[in-house]
Amino acid sequence: MQVISTVAEMQQVARRARQLGQTIGCVPTMGALHAGHGSLIEASAAVHAVTVTSVFVNPTQFGPSEDFDSYPRMLDADIATIERCGGTHVFAPSIAEMYPGGYTTKIRLDGVTEVLEGAHRPGHFDGVATVVCKLLMAMQPDEAFFGQKDYQQTLVVRRLVEDLLIPVTMTVAPTVREANGLAMSSRNAYLSTEERHRAAVLYRALSSAADIVTAADQDVSRHAIENAMLRELHTVEDFSVGYAVAVDADTLLPADTYHPGDRLALLIAGTLGTTRLIDNVLVTV
Ligand code: PAF
Repeated sequence: MQVISTVAEMQQVARRARQLGQTIGCVPTMGALHAGHGSLIEASAAVHAVTVTSVFVNPTQFGPSEDFDSYPRMLDADIATIERCGGTHVFAPSIAEMYPGGYTTKIRLDGVTEVLEGAHRPGHFDGVATVVCKLLMAMQPDEAFFGQKDYQQTLVVRRLVEDLLIPVTMTVAPTVREANGLAMSSRNAYLSTEERHRAAVLYRALSSAADIVTAADQDVSRHAIENAMLRELHTVEDFSVGYAVAVDADTLLPADTYHPGDRLALLIAGTLGTTRLIDNVLVTV
């Protein structure tokens, strides 16, 4: 497996693969890989001769009081995981390589970036959109794989790809969960064993709300769905709710009432102790 650290080499590898008639899949990550990332790498490797996993902790998507400095970094372990899952290349550039001196371009999307995570983390999605665009220009994939765990991010990247005519197919794979339902996340490394146990409340809350939505054979009120999530979330000590919402799955906008056939995203964010957690499920009324 080849570890690449410069954009020039990455683009050269992509060019060579194309000359050989090979297709390229990519899995953009910030490292600290877990089974969720592994499933994306495996999905890509099943289809593409070349699977590039990028490992880059992107400073521009972290707010000033967020965890950029403490974000887990473990490149050697990540390389071993990528190899085990069938990846062929790792793209692990430095910050200077991705943001060289003189760099000023930023990508900002309206609409879907302005609510939920976007409202709680100002500038976060500008950083995500900018770095994803740069990573795609470097890796030049035919297909890019993302996890549903970061659902709002997948909508942002879809919009970016469509608006900027980036020639890549986007595939979103289901969230991989621990046995108790906790969504796999690199930030779970911050949780103690006891907190991991309590963090399962997010999936319990989503599941009980999803049951209400899928059982409805007539209109269902947003309040009923959101109250079901809040009731469950409030059973756990030390979990501070950021949001627990039932919104349109495409626009992330709320309506008072949902009708049979409506496709909803149920999304929760909150802080357990000092660790911010997010999760979601998609359901149809
Ligand atoms: O989901 C992530 O790990 C990051 O937001 C991404 C897409 C790699 C951009 O830095």
